[in-house]
Amino acid sequence: MDPTTIATTTTAVLTTKRSNRSCRLVLLPYPLQGHINPMLQLANILYSKGFSITILHTHYNSPNPVNHPNFNFVPIPGVAEEKYPVSSIDNLISLMRYLNDKCMGAVEDCLERMALEDEGVACLVTDAQWFATQSIADRLKFPRIVNWTSNVSTFLTFAAVPLLRDMGYVRKFTDQEKRSDALVSGVELLKVRDLSSFLTSDPKGASELMELLVLGVKPAQAIIWNTVKELEELELPKLSHDFPSSHFLIGPLHKYFPPLSSSLLTQDQTCISWLDKQAPNSVLYVSFGSLAGVEESQFQEIAWGLANSKQPFLWVVRPGSIQGSEWLESLLDGYLEKIVEGKGYIVKWAPQQEVLAHFAIGGFLTHNGWNSTLESICEGVPMICSPRFGDQLTIARYVTDVWKIGVELKNGLERVEIEGAIKRLMADPEGLEIRARVNNLKEKVNNCLKKGGSSYSSLEDLVNYILSFKGGIK
Ligand code: UDX
Repeated sequence: MDPTTIATTTTAVLTTKRSNRSCRLVLLPYPLQGHINPMLQLANILYSKGFSITILHTHYNSPNPVNHPNFNFVPIPGVAEEKYPVSSIDNLISLMRYLNDKCMGAVEDCLERMALEDEGVACLVTDAQWFATQSIADRLKFPRIVNWTSNVSTFLTFAAVPLLRDMGYVRKFTDQEKRSDALVSGVELLKVRDLSSFLTSDPKGASELMELLVLGVKPAQAIIWNTVKELEELELPKLSHDFPSSHFLIGPLHKYFPPLSSSLLTQDQTCISWLDKQAPNSVLYVSFGSLAGVEESQFQEIAWGLANSKQPFLWVVRPGSIQGSEWLESLLDGYLEKIVEGKGYIVKWAPQQEVLAHFAIGGFLTHNGWNSTLESICEGVPMICSPRFGDQLTIARYVTDVWKIGVELKNGLERVEIEGAIKRLMADPEGLEIRARVNNLKEKVNNCLKKGGSSYSSLEDLVNYILSFKGGIK
């Protein structure tokens, strides 16, 4: 069935908000920034539709309940925080295995207890990365809905991993392959040179987990997508053919309400006053999200690419994201003087949604995490794409090759190419065309949330779908 058909054929009308409140939903966010944000945004949306919300969460990267007074927070007990293997990016694979193994007993106990409470549990909504929770939902007879925090093409690329394995691609790549523009047959969007980063430095571990993720999504009752139909037209026929569950494309989740306080790091607001003093569309925003790191040499290349472009920039340098450095100590004094000259501003963490919405921002040098990409599209900000690993490679392909709303750094992080890309995007006529396209997409995406728009209708359908679960209202 076409997922958009699912979204438009449900006939029931929304019930009054107050009447849903007795219907409790338990949401299980995955404890990383790029996953916490969309899950709490979803929680807010469902709360606004009248549902009662319980957030079941790890101690590690726990959301701050004070910032979300409408939700009930339940920590998963018994798993020692210091044991979580999260000290580096390579450990993300271990983290996912660890959580899906060590936390399952405690998660089941919590859910069992909640089921016995007066409110009961109408439905469990988990991040896809909690792939092992399906068996708990089955045992407890809870409907499980998956929140997929990235886009549809990413999911389908993950689903193509067995094909990649059959073609012999789950391995390390040669330098020649890392430069190859050949398309990967069967996964046409990706080029051979994307595969190495797509599969990370641990291709076997990453591919196994991607498969587990897809296997964990398949039996779920439904999937909530933080994306919009209009961005996914190419992928929807394949999605509905290969995964005939119920699909609700209700994004962009971050646009329903003003930015949430779900940031794990303190957002430095001083950059907004700095942006206020800059000319419209003049500043390049630079950020590689919450996880990706760079080598020290790459950091230097970015620094000099930015400086040489002569374009003002706002740069997020997350402490610990440069290998071997705490923060900026590897920058030469001369460089910092250049920044003091007024061309640049560096922060440890920014209020990104506000930054991207600021009139002064004219471009975004990004790792193409899905949240960042969607936030950029929603504000009409064109991108310079430098994906680091996993889903970011697929998303960057969409940005540069399908939507054509960004330019790609083909040779990694190299100062001359960075300088050239900034000029292409922010000074050349090509940049104007790219900006026109992203503004066009911005309008389409933001219209989806208006009455009658695709996400608006899909959300109505989701609400009615959840209310239809037996025992949903106690
Ligand atoms: C990773 C994956 O790359 C991403 O594709 C996946 O969907 C989630 O996990 P991450 O590196 O965290 O994500 O990037 P991204 O998805 O872009 O999320 C980062 C979030 O942090 C965004 O919501 C962004 O607004 C926020 N952010 C980022 C800040 O609030 N301040 C900053 O300075 C930088």
